[in-house]
Amino acid sequence: MKVLVTGGLGFIGSHTVVELQNQGFDVVIVDDLSNSSIEVLEGISRITGKTPVFEKLDLREKSQVKDFFTKHSDIKGVIHFAASKAVGESVEKPLLYYENNINTLVYILQELVQNKIGNFIFSSSCTVYGQAEKMPITEDASVQPAASPYGNTKQIGEEIITDVAKVTNINAILLRYFNPIGAHPSAEIGELPIGVPQNLVPFITQTGAGLRESLSVFGDDYPTPDGTAIRDYIHVVDLAKAHVVALQRLIDNKNQQKVETFNVGTGTGSSVLEVITAFEKVSGQKLPYKIVGRREGDITVAYANTDKANTVLGWKAKSTLEEALASAWKWEQKIRN
Ligand code: UD1
Repeated sequence: MKVLVTGGLGFIGSHTVVELQNQGFDVVIVDDLSNSSIEVLEGISRITGKTPVFEKLDLREKSQVKDFFTKHSDIKGVIHFAASKAVGESVEKPLLYYENNINTLVYILQELVQNKIGNFIFSSSCTVYGQAEKMPITEDASVQPAASPYGNTKQIGEEIITDVAKVTNINAILLRYFNPIGAHPSAEIGELPIGVPQNLVPFITQTGAGLRESLSVFGDDYPTPDGTAIRDYIHVVDLAKAHVVALQRLIDNKNQQKVETFNVGTGTGSSVLEVITAFEKVSGQKLPYKIVGRREGDITVAYANTDKANTVLGWKAKSTLEEALASAWKWEQKIRN
């Protein structure tokens, strides 16, 4: 069965392509290579023994999207990763984010309707919950006003899909990711941040590798046990597998609603200091770090209640924080050598 993965050369996309191919799907990747590298295709091939079809495509070009679906008329499902994801940049360049994340979504949905492709998986984010009142966060926690244009594109994206699914053939699963980290255990693919990493784990591994002098811990005065902020760090391979299970659910017509939403996390919260300690353990070295002020826009704590994904979707994260960090470290060492 042929599936389209947009942004399939990106961090989560590439790991999902591997899991799809492992399950026997024929994958077509489209990617504009704006935040990814063509070499990722070789990494996927080395892991799976199969090279996915790849087309370089700018999804903002409506006519290109149309032509693509005309050419690939046998696509049965779409997993849509392609999007911009830097929170700070989205504040500086909101229109770029609305164009990249919203226009593209609309064009793809138009083609799905036109070509009667019913199965759609969307990359959403736990950012839609803002600072939730109750931990762990369930899917029925309220969506809070977005703190950034990036976050807003996830909320608007969810709303667009919900509106469209009501009146079309489209069935969709919205996956709200918590904090994806790690790399494929083979170290053939992993995260490739451009410039200085904004996210915690790539900054840690680059510091461990000597590229950065020390990690800045953003705030130790949060109302948490050790004062640092708490997140739910999920191994990217576990996250990738959730996409395959979700797609299969739609293909098998097992979904109970036109649009279903699932949290994709581990259910365990870890503080920044706990992540540092776990990294030191798996890497066998001390991590230089200093405490600095809070980062604007950061919340105190977010971790998932994963009951719905566990029971309804039949998916559960398997990797521990240490396993995920070990894979990120192995990857970092590989790309530095
Ligand atoms: C961030 C985004 C979120 C997005 C996600 C994608 C913000 C406010 N949120 O999540 O919308 O969906 O990335 O991956 O940008 N930290 C440090 N030092 C660092 C980097 C991070 O102490 O150098 C801390 C942060 O304050 C936070 C934790 O580490 O408490 C995780 O940060 P990060 O990896 O950037 O993820 P989020 O902020 O949770």
